[in-house]
Amino acid sequence: MARERWSSKLGVILAVAGSAVGLGNFLVFPSQAARNGGGAFMIPYFLALVLLGLPLMWIEWTIGRFGGGFGHSTAPGIFHTLWNKNRFIKYFGVIGIFGPLVIFIYYIYVESWLLGYSIFALLGKYNSCTTEHSMLAFLQGYQGVVQNQFFSSIGPSYTFFLITFLLNILIVCFGISKGIERVCKYGLPILFVFAIVLMVRVLTLGAPDPAKPDYNIANGLGFLWNPDWSALKSAKVWLAAAGQILFTLSCGIGVILTYASYLTKNDDVALSGLTAAATNEVAEVILGGSIVIPAAFAFFGPLATTKIAEAGVFNLAFVTMPLVLQKIALGNVFGFLWFMLLFLAGITSSISLAQPAVAFLQDEFDLPKKTATGIFAITTFVLTNSVIFLLGKGAVDELHFWGGTFCLVLFGTIETILFGWIFGMEDGWTEMHVGSDISIPRIYRFIIKYVTPVFLLFILGFWCWQEWTPLILLRNIPAENVPYIIGIRLMLVGLFAVLAILVWIVWRRKELRST
Ligand code: PFF
Repeated sequence: MARERWSSKLGVILAVAGSAVGLGNFLVFPSQAARNGGGAFMIPYFLALVLLGLPLMWIEWTIGRFGGGFGHSTAPGIFHTLWNKNRFIKYFGVIGIFGPLVIFIYYIYVESWLLGYSIFALLGKYNSCTTEHSMLAFLQGYQGVVQNQFFSSIGPSYTFFLITFLLNILIVCFGISKGIERVCKYGLPILFVFAIVLMVRVLTLGAPDPAKPDYNIANGLGFLWNPDWSALKSAKVWLAAAGQILFTLSCGIGVILTYASYLTKNDDVALSGLTAAATNEVAEVILGGSIVIPAAFAFFGPLATTKIAEAGVFNLAFVTMPLVLQKIALGNVFGFLWFMLLFLAGITSSISLAQPAVAFLQDEFDLPKKTATGIFAITTFVLTNSVIFLLGKGAVDELHFWGGTFCLVLFGTIETILFGWIFGMEDGWTEMHVGSDISIPRIYRFIIKYVTPVFLLFILGFWCWQEWTPLILLRNIPAENVPYIIGIRLMLVGLFAVLAILVWIVWRRKELRST
């Protein structure tokens, strides 16, 4: 079977940027920056971008394209081609399928709320909620966490989930160039337009309440960006910045690796990787930083905004922002733009999370695309249902920790060491520059070999030292949720085991065939 290919250079850059620009940019970033030192957060953030994000971006593009040349689209096969003397490395590659799957199963559910809310905004369905309390009740009713006057069942939420899920499956089923590339080619520019419109609207709000002239946009931007230097002394702030960079760039989890495997040998990776990363950073720092927090500040003032940033990303998206937008003219239209923006950002990311598992089944088991997508759909459907019904028990936080935080750092560490030390910096650097449109500054030879792995190992070490015991012993989980969280952890172990067994079967068959 001929390998699938991207149809244009712009297409693959937009697809990678589409994966990167997501809920992380418009929700997680502003809340992290506001909570972790404002402008001072940007120091560890930019250092992490230069020392972790960009190196991992280039590494994944390079080894992805390299592995694609051997017919592999996913980490087990790609790691094996990089270090074929080692029998175990392919099992480390399992994380590059497992991690995206884990993120997919909660990300897609949140994404479906955005579709629901974009329709609700147009229909004015939450217009009667004028306080934080009632808007939160609306959200909880929608999520099925409680039954109330707004929603008597989880039915509407489940319907939007089914639509979103089917849409994702359909796009993936259409394939790399006809599905993913096409959606990102339109989705990403539309999303940028929506974000720019919202940003301009927020930045021209001035001081919406004449009785409180201090509650204005300039002070709102100050609230987000004024540096609190003392934050730099906290290791947690550095970890948050590093984690945010990896999550927002979709780096260190095997997704970009898979996308890059559909390049041809002489396609550029250096400039393309840089362009995708730069696009993400514009969306995050400029657009993401200029919408939700400044708007909240202008309407609710500093104290409430601190509380809002601490209350987490769901509050930001589904409570604060609709309350803010209700207070301006054409609020329903802006509400629609807000939720549609997030939905588009979400879907161009979730399809990228689906691709590694589908590609693995396709390449390594020679399954037709439709069959591979079907198996993926059934598995993730079942798994996402556990998230839907365990939402009130902390399922999303648990999955986000393992999939969206821990796996990124672990997998990023493995691939950096593999690239810089096993494949070797000499060959790696040459491979990175095959067909490249720019020369990467030579300092990156040093950074990739020494700085990036040390930085990542430091993060892993810090976790083990500080967080491992309470985490394993479930110390920070409310007692009533413990059985559910244990259930989720068992599910994750089971999922990992199944993937590892599949890898074992693939290589066993290869060995039998070659003897
Ligand atoms: N980068 C996405 C965001 O910022 O929301 C999330 C994500 C997508 C993380 C794909 C990892 C990934 F592989």
